Amino acid sequence: MPKIKVDVCAGTHCTMMGSMDIINSIESLIELEQLSGDCEVIINPVPCNSLCEHGQYSPIVSINGRMFKRADSETIMSEILDIIRAEGCLEK
Ligand code: FES
Repeated sequence: MPKIKVDVCAGTHCTMMGSMDIINSIESLIELEQLSGDCEVIINPVPCNSLCEHGQYSPIVSINGRMFKRADSETIMSEILDIIRAEGCLEK
């Protein structure tokens, strides 16, 4: 079963820099796209791991272990869509 694991930092700096907007965008994307039954996007809010360097690189998002610094909704959704397509997760 293809799983796309998205860790979104919910620490103070990343939250101030829009990590909750990214989570909302991913949730909207999941609702909009018809994922086939055996595909799953898992969103995990995670605590600060200091990779933000006191907010300099916020928000921090990781998709299947690939880290994105100064992430934005557009980049993250595009990356998730690429994986969804590559895994053949879209309903026909
Ligand atoms: S607040 Fe997000 S990595 Fe530090």
